[in-house]
Amino acid sequence: MALRVAVVGAGSAGLISIKICVDEGLEPVCFESSDDIGGLWKFKDSPEPERTSIYRSLVVNTSKEMMCFSDFPMPADYPNYMHNSQLLQYFRLYAKHFDLLKYIHFQTTVRSVTPTADFSLSGQWDIVTVNRDGKEERQVFDAVLVCSGHYTQPILPLSEFPGHETFSGRCLHSWDYKDADAFRGKRVVVVGIGNSGGDIAVEISRAAEKTFLSTRQGAWVVSRMSNNGLPLDMTSITRLNNILMKLLPSNLVNWVAERSLNQKYDHRLYGLRPRHRLLDRRPLVNCDLPDQILQGALVMKPNLRAFRDSGVVFEDGTVEENIDAVVFCTGYKASFPFLPPALSGGPDKELTLYKRLFPPSLSKPTLAVMGLFQTKGPIQPIMEMQARWAVRVFSGLSRLPSEKKMLKVIECDTKRNSKSYPCPRQAALYVDYMSYLDFMAGEIGVRPNLLRLMLRDPVLWVKVAFGPCTPYQYRLTGPGQWAGARQAILTQWDRVTQPFRTRAVPEPESRSSVLFSPLLLVLGGAVITAVLISKNETVPAQILDRCKIFLKDSWFTG
Ligand SMILES: Cc1cc2nc3c(=O)[nH]c(=O)nc-3n(C[C@H](O)[C@H](O)[C@H](O)COP(=O)(O)OP(=O)(O)OC[C@H]3O[C@@H](n4cnc5c(N)ncnc54)[C@H](O)[C@@H]3O)c2cc1C
Ligand SMILES: *[C@@H]1O[C@H](CO)[C@@H](O)[C@H](O)[C@H]1NC(C)=O
Repeated sequence: MALRVAVVGAGSAGLISIKICVDEGLEPVCFESSDDIGGLWKFKDSPEPERTSIYRSLVVNTSKEMMCFSDFPMPADYPNYMHNSQLLQYFRLYAKHFDLLKYIHFQTTVRSVTPTADFSLSGQWDIVTVNRDGKEERQVFDAVLVCSGHYTQPILPLSEFPGHETFSGRCLHSWDYKDADAFRGKRVVVVGIGNSGGDIAVEISRAAEKTFLSTRQGAWVVSRMSNNGLPLDMTSITRLNNILMKLLPSNLVNWVAERSLNQKYDHRLYGLRPRHRLLDRRPLVNCDLPDQILQGALVMKPNLRAFRDSGVVFEDGTVEENIDAVVFCTGYKASFPFLPPALSGGPDKELTLYKRLFPPSLSKPTLAVMGLFQTKGPIQPIMEMQARWAVRVFSGLSRLPSEKKMLKVIECDTKRNSKSYPCPRQAALYVDYMSYLDFMAGEIGVRPNLLRLMLRDPVLWVKVAFGPCTPYQYRLTGPGQWAGARQAILTQWDRVTQPFRTRAVPEPESRSSVLFSPLLLVLGGAVITAVLISKNETVPAQILDRCKIFLKDSWFTG
């Protein structure tokens, strides 16, 4: 008989989970407390408490070819970085195409998930749900996929700042922020420079009289746009880059990358520069922040120290009076009120998860927590892989190590991240995008074999090894193979360029580029070698500059 799997939540993680269960012959039953799919991508003017909330203008920070489901490319005409409503539209297409809605019980909230009395033998779970009429129901399931999201409990650190009780302005969390209407002509402080903090500060600064962005740490800011206006993640998340990152000394890579970022706008000059190096943490994806700073609409400030009647004091002692509002973009805490407290070792503790998926303490691995991680790439492809792996573990096709071994691995993973993330909570959450995907793909048996690919299908091999690591790569072979994967990879750049083709532009006359590009390559190689040989920062700077001048000159004369 097919295993019955309870899927808690019908956001993107829930949808993928349902689909994968069906693919693998399991029987999913999904419970969704709201009346629609999409989770956080379903914009609401006034969301229910304890639910994720997004602002009206939110645009994704990962590009369409990188974040799509691995066997369902996004429509070619979608923009590369889309508005939240269009992503929701894509989820609707996905749900319709694979006929997923029939598995979902809407307006049904999971109240509790508890191991059955004979759990050590059966691995089963007792699940209590409440529907819209308040009717409770208890059912037994063979396995559980927790897809309830983790941007639910706003962290509002008001008490850290003396004087907040008597502050005359308004204090709110980004959870409550929808758009800048209420801030027109006001003086506003935004606290925190995460993705939301950056977006919200920029948006408010377009309406407000003055906006101050207060940050303790600063941030490296990157644009969605890479060279030639192509999506940043398409050019940066490649197998080649992944190998280079591991081979080259990180100081050198950091130095080169930071230098090229600073050439656009000096992070020190703009008051953005953080203490950590660029590659140590996830950079902030924001195209407009530096521009707003340049225009003086947005002012960078250090950490907030205290409130004063109608003003605020920053850590450098500077004071800003007549502040109308302070928006705290200080993040969220995940909470899983329906899970047994024993899983997290206490009500307020974090969940301990083997490979960010399985609680190691369970005697039977029949529960997985999806999406509870941070990474430098899109979340969706990882969640999809998590579902594929979890389902194989549930059905016994893939095995987990012993509890002792799993705890050891968790400790090692956390330790490895602690150089970049001194905070243990953050260190535990972080995963390296490609390594994590490849690890899980290895467990499932869907990791692309590059050597074999090179011999059998050199054209595809070039795309897989040197091109963007799009999710289709994990559908080429093994369980869950998709016949359209090869074609999807060969056409991925067509779907990137399609939305731009709205005005025919005549082809440029071809230059003597055939003759020229080998010369450029040789020169480029020489520059890289020079940089590699010397690790002293000042020497390569000069060499680099000279070479650049030379390159520019020869380009113009050529
Ligand atoms: C502002 C913001 C921007 C982001 N931008 C990107 C991006 O550009 N690219 C990217 O890859 N990722 C992005 N992310 C990460 C994002 O979290 C994931 O991409 C993904 O959408 C998470 O989906 P989910 O299904 O895990 O959670 P959610 O979308 O939060 O869905 C959870 C669902 O579970 C339901 N639920 C919760 N509890 C229960 C219960 N007890 N019973 C029944 N149902 C329940 C909820 O109603 C909800 O529908 C962003 C996150 C935020 C907050
Ligand atoms: C995109 O933004 C979300 C929300 O802030 C964040 O969790 C995610 O890591 C970001 N992704 C990238 C690639 O920066």
